[in-house]
Amino acid sequence: MDEIRKLVLESDIIIESFPLYFFGMPSKMKAFMDRMINFVSEYRAVNGDEATGRFLHEMRYPELMKKKLILVSACGYEETVDCYDAVIDQFDKICGHDNYTRIFVPQGGMLAEKTFENKIARYMVKFEEAGKEFAKNGKLTKETEEKLSIPMLGHNTFAQAINLNWDEPGVGPYGKVVK
Ligand SMILES: Cc1cc2nc3c(=O)[nH]c(=O)nc-3n(C[C@H](O)[C@H](O)[C@H](O)COP(=O)(O)O)c2cc1C
Repeated sequence: MDEIRKLVLESDIIIESFPLYFFGMPSKMKAFMDRMINFVSEYRAVNGDEATGRFLHEMRYPELMKKKLILVSACGYEETVDCYDAVIDQFDKICGHDNYTRIFVPQGGMLAEKTFENKIARYMVKFEEAGKEFAKNGKLTKETEEKLSIPMLGHNTFAQAINLNWDEPGVGPYGKVVK
């Protein structure tokens, strides 16, 4: 953690990348977050939140406020709708909704499937575009965030693919569906 904390302090952009586990972050990611507690100062009865009057932590390192945070996560479900509510709620409370970037992608398992190689390559183009947008503006628009969450496969193809994964593991995770 000493090394990681040093890297965080030296970086302009922090990217937290994780698969969605039970509608939240995996335990290792959570452990990392918990170990970052020393980035905030002790909890004191100062610095109340304007809207609620609630006391808040101050930052131990004010330069942290200038850094950008990007969350990148894939989930296994067909769509991201509702899947990330707990993650968004958590980070909204930590950072404020407009102070971090969300890249949430459905059908994560499909992105490792060789059979979909060409489809995946076409699907990836919008992420490259989003990277350029981020480099230029330091953030993504709500429209771009939404666009990145559009599923790669249609409902019926996805249904076939996930079932093949379990029924015929010998042909590869999601094989035989799309040539
Ligand atoms: C323990 C565990 C819990 C998971 N929980 C969810 C979940 O709540 N919602 C979801 O859509 N996918 C869930 N998944 C699927 C993963 O998000 C999906 O496998 C991952 O994004 C794809 O990356 P991978 O290739 O590293 O598995 C879960 C997977 C595991 C192993």
